[in-house]
Amino acid sequence: MTMEKANLDWSNIGFGYIKTDYNVRCYYRNGQWGAIEVSSDENIPLHMAATCLHYGQEAFEGLKAFTGKDGRIRIFRAEANAERMQATSDATLMPRVPTELFVEMVKRVVKLNERFVPPYGSGAVLYIRPLLIGTGAQLGVHPASEYLFLILVSPVGPYFKGGFAVTPYAIIRQYDRTAPLGMGSFKVGGNYAASLRANKMAHDLGYSCEFYLDSKEKKYIDEAGAANFFGIKNDTYVTPASTSILPSVTNDSLQRVARDLGMKVEKRRIPLEELETFEEAGACGTAAVISPIERIDDIETGKSYVFAKDGKPGPWSRHLYDAITAIQFGEAEDKYGWITMLED
Ligand code: PLP
Ligand code: COI
Repeated sequence: MTMEKANLDWSNIGFGYIKTDYNVRCYYRNGQWGAIEVSSDENIPLHMAATCLHYGQEAFEGLKAFTGKDGRIRIFRAEANAERMQATSDATLMPRVPTELFVEMVKRVVKLNERFVPPYGSGAVLYIRPLLIGTGAQLGVHPASEYLFLILVSPVGPYFKGGFAVTPYAIIRQYDRTAPLGMGSFKVGGNYAASLRANKMAHDLGYSCEFYLDSKEKKYIDEAGAANFFGIKNDTYVTPASTSILPSVTNDSLQRVARDLGMKVEKRRIPLEELETFEEAGACGTAAVISPIERIDDIETGKSYVFAKDGKPGPWSRHLYDAITAIQFGEAEDKYGWITMLED
């Protein structure tokens, strides 16, 4: 049975919160996860001394569901997001959400909100936001004994202006977002709080996003505020190895797709000066997909690294974008088992 879609102007929605019908929740109490609960309430009851509020004991994830060319709904790499959230749980002393529970809840929340999954070809998709928070009260800095895992969804359009169009990025040196042995490789809200000033500065100056160098030496490329970095030269996809960047599921997928397209792949430290040598560059992530980078301006030194002289995405970026979105929309074979079909 086909369900009637929500009355939204699908082609003109941005990346913002849109209310849907349901969210799903699961509580961790007395050392175990309870039953999955379905809620239509957008609010959560929370103790005022909950650890998530005072000490940032929380983790979140981001993944997407797509309506395929065949009309069927596909969820991209849910297991990989479950595993990354488990790594964040370990880093913040929270209980792990088992992969089966995570995937089950993702499927439930997408199914319950099926009328909000944007139609094929509309340019919009369904963003899925899992959230794990310490709900137990503590006054001292200690992990909570109770937790809530919830998943909300929202239809979204492109994260960066114009979608697959080149935009400029700004290196902001005056604020560090993460530390070399800190939490940068985990998806905790504190990293994003730490990015707000640099992000605002970049936006105020007319850039799409702020861009970070390694915080210890300011010599190497780290990542953009909400996406990893890749550079392309000599048919090679080069992406940073760093202890302070998020291990992006999109980047991992693109590395495999790049090899399939006949590219070489290098994951290593990228010295800042090497930016001059790239023929193309992009930011990649769930929200960003691939956002081709026009240029990166180093605000403090005034140096500019230009990748798209003609103002257009480069050919490899286009091939990579087409290849990954073809898998997500069911137009190409899912040969790595990345897709969970909603009805499976
Ligand atoms: N880096 C940061 C800081 C992010 O917030 C994100 C978004 O999740 C990414 C990279 C991209 O990761 P993924 O491809 O798993 O969405
Ligand atoms: C994502 O790409 O899923 C993100 O988390 C980016 C941002 C909205 C924080």
